[in-house]
Amino acid sequence: MNSKNIAPDIISSSILDVDAIRADFPILRQKIHGKPLVYLDNAATAQKPEQVIKTLDNYYREYNANIHRGIHTLSQKATEAYEGARVKVQHFINASSIKEIIFVRGTTEGINLVAQSYGRTRLKRGDEIIISEMEHHSNIVPWQLLCEQTGAVLKVIPMNDAGELIMEEFEKLLGKKTRLVSVGHISNALGTINPIEKIIKMSHAYNAVALIDGAQAAPHMAIDVQALDCDFYAFSGHKLFGPTGIGVVYGKQSLLEDMPPYQGGGDMIKMVTLEKTLFNDLPYKFEAGTPHIAGVIGLGAAIDYVSDIGLENIAAYEHGLTDYAISAASGVTGLKLIGTARDKASILSFIMDGIHPHDIGTILDQEGIAIRTGHHCAMPVMEHFHVPATARASFAFYNKREEVDQLMTALEKCKEVFK
Ligand code: ALA
Repeated sequence: MNSKNIAPDIISSSILDVDAIRADFPILRQKIHGKPLVYLDNAATAQKPEQVIKTLDNYYREYNANIHRGIHTLSQKATEAYEGARVKVQHFINASSIKEIIFVRGTTEGINLVAQSYGRTRLKRGDEIIISEMEHHSNIVPWQLLCEQTGAVLKVIPMNDAGELIMEEFEKLLGKKTRLVSVGHISNALGTINPIEKIIKMSHAYNAVALIDGAQAAPHMAIDVQALDCDFYAFSGHKLFGPTGIGVVYGKQSLLEDMPPYQGGGDMIKMVTLEKTLFNDLPYKFEAGTPHIAGVIGLGAAIDYVSDIGLENIAAYEHGLTDYAISAASGVTGLKLIGTARDKASILSFIMDGIHPHDIGTILDQEGIAIRTGHHCAMPVMEHFHVPATARASFAFYNKREEVDQLMTALEKCKEVFK
């Protein structure tokens, strides 16, 4: 992401064959209201390449069966593909063991799992949890629930008006009572890339565990959980060009071993009597019931896809595209960016004089341009900037500068309509 020595222009135009990449995404070929689709809502969910779609199709056509249960051929094939995807995830985030990879519904469920399994058993009245002002609701509400259940107290790292965490304030919040720190890697509402290495180190200095919400980071940059030394890291499949309803929570084995199951049911047990249950080993202890088998296998295909392109290439390309969009947006009078952090990724959140973000979204849709408008499930961010909502364009590696230009032209059109 920090390819600051090379001109963004050069990176952007040479590093990826975007036209070839786009050919892999059938949905991008369609027209919306008679205009070619310009999909700039990737932070909400990313589109799926043919390779992922075919993998899902193939699973249901050729070897749909339950896993870990059947002796028959189809079940063995499905189990092999499911567990194969776990190994792909392990390598993708450089976890030290497959035991550390737990499949969940998405980032939200991953955070809730940690809050309820780790938090509920380890935290007591007066203990402190630290989050930040720029968190998505899914990294706020699970902790509020945990505080209600345990009597723990929630503390919040404030941000400045550029949308950067104020690290001196974080330092002040840390103390003997801090048990857990949970922050987003990249803000979905602002695009800020948080200094998580530093945050993790500082948390550990106070013997607190650190959870990273990686929902917006995993699609845009290489993740190395061992290098980061985070205790937990959660991300979603659907933002990573994979299926919806599947995600991953990574946890250090030493922590997961001591945590109780999040849910009870089939597959998470070794032995059940009516009196007592012996739980299964990691990671199965945390995967009760028939999982989203197709989702996991599809996520594996998505990881293959982005890994083939290369996360470093993706990060460098998108960095150039984001810089280009920021610079183009500065030419639109009456547009104000919300979130101007120095370290920023793939997100352009903005408001426009006299035009409600929902109206911007509606007019852009007429032009075939898909963006998200609203509070982005980050209402405290809106409160900080004293706005009810923003318009948000969010980029992926299949987006082009021409699409940014189309966005800017359409924004000028919005101004005309509301003149
Ligand atoms: N969290 C997703 C977003 O930012 C849905 O749009």
